[in-house]
Amino acid sequence: KRIDLIGIPTDAGASCRGCGMGPEALRIAGIGEAIAAQGHDVADLGDLSRPRRSEPTLPWRLSEAREAEVLALAKLGSEAAYASMAAGRLPVFLGGDHSIAMGTLSGVARYGAAKGKPVHVLWIDAHGDFNTPTTSETGNLHGMPLALSCGEPDFGPQFEGGWRGRIDPKNVTIFAARDIDRPERELLEQRGVDVIDMRRIDETGAVALMREVLERVAADGGHLHVSLDVDAVDPAIAPGAGTPVAGGLTFREAHLAMEMIHDSGLMGSLDIVELNPILDHAGMSARLLVDLAASLFGRQIMPRRIARDALTAQSS
Ligand code: ARG
Ligand code: MN
Ligand code: MN
Ligand code: MN
Repeated sequence: KRIDLIGIPTDAGASCRGCGMGPEALRIAGIGEAIAAQGHDVADLGDLSRPRRSEPTLPWRLSEAREAEVLALAKLGSEAAYASMAAGRLPVFLGGDHSIAMGTLSGVARYGAAKGKPVHVLWIDAHGDFNTPTTSETGNLHGMPLALSCGEPDFGPQFEGGWRGRIDPKNVTIFAARDIDRPERELLEQRGVDVIDMRRIDETGAVALMREVLERVAADGGHLHVSLDVDAVDPAIAPGAGTPVAGGLTFREAHLAMEMIHDSGLMGSLDIVELNPILDHAGMSARLLVDLAASLFGRQIMPRRIARDALTAQSS
């Protein structure tokens, strides 16, 4: 595959600073080399440029400058996603906080609409990120990208425009959820988002649930966008997260999920977000994400000739 790495170095949507350094940490941990080692052609397009901002680190308050930065990067991200896919490439966005998905999902949604291909989203995250400016307890935009992408109305006119693409909430699956706010939960239920929470993963197993998701996308002939938030993984092995939640995916569950997505051949775009190098312990979260990306792009312990349609064959 031909892959574009696109950094979006921002923490404007986050609850604390630091994940703006995520793209560089992922590069230094070797993300480009790890993907290329699986036989792909990788181009690092560098970082989208963010406006100059002079917010103090402490106290880290909501501000117009932060919202303006999220918006500016959403527009650039939407363009970059569309351009990469239109060139027949698979964009990998290196965040940056999860608000970058306001742009990346928009670009993917616009491209899917142009091609007549339904876009499905697999949101691997401890959180739902389905708040709106009305439901959010924190006001942080990284808790809202899915709601914006699914067309929730109360974001204000500044969030409208041609860069916006629309995702059908019924094509969204959240995987590894364990911290959903009350009004957010109601909205997720009303909109028909499939929320695979940790209880379902414990009861049913990650494999059966992931297979169901992938089969649904395959049956629809869909484009799969994967949005991987580092906090989906347990904070014991991925401490570099600004909003850590106990009880996350284990090392093995996370790798297996990546391997299954790879084997499905369905993924056409990817975000890797919320890595906060200043909270990380000696780069362990950055390296874990790089290893997960390697699994996602084909790394195997022993070669397996698992065909794409084995996905469906296995379960029947
Ligand atoms: N639900 C909380 C909020 O709205 C946390 C969101 C965390 N999101 C994230 N991308 N880490 O603020
Ligand atoms: Mn998130
Ligand atoms: Mn999260
Ligand atoms: Mn909460």
